[in-house]
Formats: sequence, structure tokens, C-alpha cells
Amino acid sequence: MKRKGIILAGGSGTRLYPITMAVSKQLLPIYDKPMIYYPLSVLMLAGIREIAIITTPQDQAQFQRLLGDGSQYGLDLTWIVQDSPDGLAQAYLLAEEFLDGAPSAMILGDNIFFGHALPELLNAANSHTEGGTVFAYRVADPERYGVVDFDGDKVRHIVEKPKNPPSRYAVTGLYFLDGDAPKRARHIQPSERGELEITTLLETYLADGLLNVQSLGRGFAWFDTGTHASLLDAGNFVRTLTERQGMQAGSPDEIAWLQGWIDSSILAERAEIFKKTQYADYLRLLLEDKMMQPKNG
Ligand code: DAU
Repeated sequence: MKRKGIILAGGSGTRLYPITMAVSKQLLPIYDKPMIYYPLSVLMLAGIREIAIITTPQDQAQFQRLLGDGSQYGLDLTWIVQDSPDGLAQAYLLAEEFLDGAPSAMILGDNIFFGHALPELLNAANSHTEGGTVFAYRVADPERYGVVDFDGDKVRHIVEKPKNPPSRYAVTGLYFLDGDAPKRARHIQPSERGELEITTLLETYLADGLLNVQSLGRGFAWFDTGTHASLLDAGNFVRTLTERQGMQAGSPDEIAWLQGWIDSSILAERAEIFKKTQYADYLRLLLEDKMMQPKNG
């Protein structure tokens, strides 16, 4: 079965108050684009076209205004509501019908990834249909994340927000899991803070010897935008990268076109929608750039 995607874009966003009192965190700008463009781009780079987006009930309409049914990117989007933020692993229960037994790639709507070999890495994870693959990234503040506890090269445990982190390797918010994830999620117990933790779900895979923990090296950048400072850092990073290279990072329009999911006339129409912005100019330039060619073009 083909892998399906999930973007988890609910949550209360309280850590970013007052900004997120009236708008969803995952719609905030990361420099020139809404945050959700970036995780959406990651799933698209992995070749995934059937994607469910999970939001709070009150924010769903705004996300739909931005992304519609996904056909402008050659995608098939499904909209799911999470009534209250009861944990990351709950996403697999909410998406069970949508997944219908298929393996999945779930990405948190506030996680931003960059790196030269990202498409290759995603394709490798995509091709493992049994068990799961997660990505570990070295950070200065591991206590804020799920952390990998290594025993030599082997992974002993994954611990959620440990006071004394067993390593500096955080588990990023991108989870490739097999078709058993909803069934496993049904059997896990809520944590002390009352949430169905993703780490508890991952531990079930680990206990069965079915979890592959892949390190992202120093050539990658990963941001989770969980604080005001990291939100600004991610925006500044995108600005630096894109202005220096004159290339977009996290443009679903560009990726859809490069994947051959939309043709040049659709891309040209998209550019018109964005009017006189730099983003629109970029899409127009793509159409003339001989170095950038769609896969099947
Ligand atoms: O960013 C990676 C980290 O994400 C992992 O290292 C941790 O293991 C994982 O638990 C998670 O930690 P966070 O502290 O970042 O989780 P947070 O509660 O902030 O939720 C992450 C995003 O998911 C956030 O944008 C809101 C959304 N969310 C969260 C919950 C709990 C939902 O949409 N629904 C939820 O029920």
C-alpha cells in the first residue's frame, strides 16, 4: 500500500501567547510563507500525495482557505479535526479511517527541515514498509524534546522531556510508521500530563525491534519553532538561505511542479494568484530556468 501523509497542526499554541490567541501557530509566517508550507513540502518531497491535515475545530476554515483541496499542487487533502490536544499519538486514532491500513509519514506542523540530501533520506524511510523510522538531531537543549537513550550504537529508549537527558539527540517531529500505528496507538496509556505521547508509541516499536533511528548530520537544519526565539530563528534562517541562493525553501508550488504533479500552465496560474510578490516572481522565473526541470518534463 502507498504511504499516506499526516500533518498534525492542532494544539493550543499557549507557549506563543499572545500571538496565537487569535491565529493558529502553524499559520504564522516563517519569513515569507505560512509555517505549514514547510512540513507540507517535506511530505511532498517524500513523494506523498494523499495527506490528512489535523487542526483544531476553530482553525480548520483558515487552513482550508490557504490550502483548499490540494489540487493546485496535485495533492489529495483530507481534513480532520482534533477536538482537544490530547497528544501526538492521538493523531493515529483520528486518522485511522483515512489511513485504512496504509503506512504513514506524520510530520508536526511546526517542524521545519532543511538539508541537501533530504529527498534521498525521505525516500529511504519511505521504502521501509515494516516498522518505523524516526530522525535524531543533536541539539543544545535536549530536555525540551523526546531524547534518544543510546547503548553504544543501539537505541535503548526514547524518553520524553527528561530532566537529565541521556544524550543530546532529540527525536524530530517526523515519524514514518507502518500500517500498525493506529492499532498500537489504541493500546497505549496517557502519560502523567494526560497525553497520548508519541514517545510511548515509538517505544512499542522499539520493544519489538522495529524502530530505525536515523541521525541527521550537521549538514541539516531542524527547527521546531516552539518558542518566540526559535520562531524568529527559523524565519531568519529561511531569509538568509533564500536571499543568498535566490531559491525558495519550502515552496509546495515549486515541488509540485518539479515532481511533475502539475504542469507549467498551472504553475503560471499560481504565480498570477500571488501577484507582485517575490514568491510570484520566483515561480515565473522557474518556468524560464533551464537548470530546473520537472521530473517527467
Ligand atoms: O518537535 C519535536 C518534539 O515534538 C519531539 O521531540 C517530542 O518527542 C514530541 O512530544 C513533541 O514535543 P513538543 O513539546 O514540541 O510537543 P507539543 O505539545 O508542543 O506539540 C507539537 C506540535 O503538535 C504543536 O505544534 C502542536 C501540535 N499538537 C500537539 C498536541 C499535544 C497537536 O496538534 N495536537 C496535540 O494533541
